[in-house]
Amino acid sequence: MAVELEKILRPVDHPAPPFPPKLMTLASGEELVIRQIDREEIPDILPYVAPLLHVERDYYDIVSARVYAELLGYARHRMQDEYVLVAQIDGELAAIVNGRSMNAEVGVSLHTLALRRGLRIGAHAFAAKMEYHFDFLKQKEVLIVAESPIGFRRWMIEYKLEKRFGTPHELGGVPSWALTKELFDKARDSLVVGRRPVPEALLKKAQAAILPPSNPSKPPVDLLAATRALKDPTGTSLMLQRWTQEGKV
Ligand SMILES: CC(C)(COP(=O)(O)OP(=O)(O)OC[C@H]1O[C@@H](n2cnc3c(N)ncnc32)[C@H](O)[C@@H]1OP(=O)(O)O)[C@@H](O)C(=O)NCCC(=O)NCCS
Repeated sequence: MAVELEKILRPVDHPAPPFPPKLMTLASGEELVIRQIDREEIPDILPYVAPLLHVERDYYDIVSARVYAELLGYARHRMQDEYVLVAQIDGELAAIVNGRSMNAEVGVSLHTLALRRGLRIGAHAFAAKMEYHFDFLKQKEVLIVAESPIGFRRWMIEYKLEKRFGTPHELGGVPSWALTKELFDKARDSLVVGRRPVPEALLKKAQAAILPPSNPSKPPVDLLAATRALKDPTGTSLMLQRWTQEGKV
């Protein structure tokens, strides 16, 4: 019975080509490997997403909560046609990006989460997932939304996205924006960097283990001060303080 029910609950993914791993040199001189991960590696990255649930700054809280759910949705077969890419520096997790196919022609950008800041790693990882939609899945456009002002600047402004406001996005039903193949082609020279193939030693290092991020965004130490400073519209800082006192986190 349980097996029969699982067959109904579990969506069947359409066949999709893999994302060929990619390498790029960052402004710091470090090498960034971007590669696709499958379901077995999802448990390795969940512990690095969970702490960000309490970082209100730059909307890491809502983005990481949604990413966590989407990663579980992928690992536990509750999302259809999803893919996940990770960006790694010397094994260290530097960014996570994911998306899915709505149909053969339209892709859906889900999230971009940078775990190392200040090097445009999130921007590079986003470009890699757009490359996957256009060059490998051969889609015509990708529906995108931003949850944060930095995201808006990175995607809507830098790529000059088109409005698709009549189409609610899967993320909360908010109005969609679209990256078309034509817009992506225009951005290739300036925003899409990197090379293939990734040298075997670097790829093996990345595949061997996903190491913890060395300097992820952190919740403020003084939660009350943060509450005052940020006006804390969701009250999360105080809630977190209370949960800590109660020994729940
Ligand atoms: C949006 C995001 C993916 C962009 O990643 P990125 O391209 O690597 O860029 P960074 O986040 O490092 O830097 C963005 C800006 O933040 C600021 N910044 C840089 N380093 C920072 C740091 N260590 N701490 C705080 N802010 C920093 C800079 O002002 C930078 O401005 P710039 O546009 O002039 O470079 C990333 O900010 C992120 O994960 N944000 C939280 C989740 C989110 O909003 N995701 C997108 C949903 S639409």
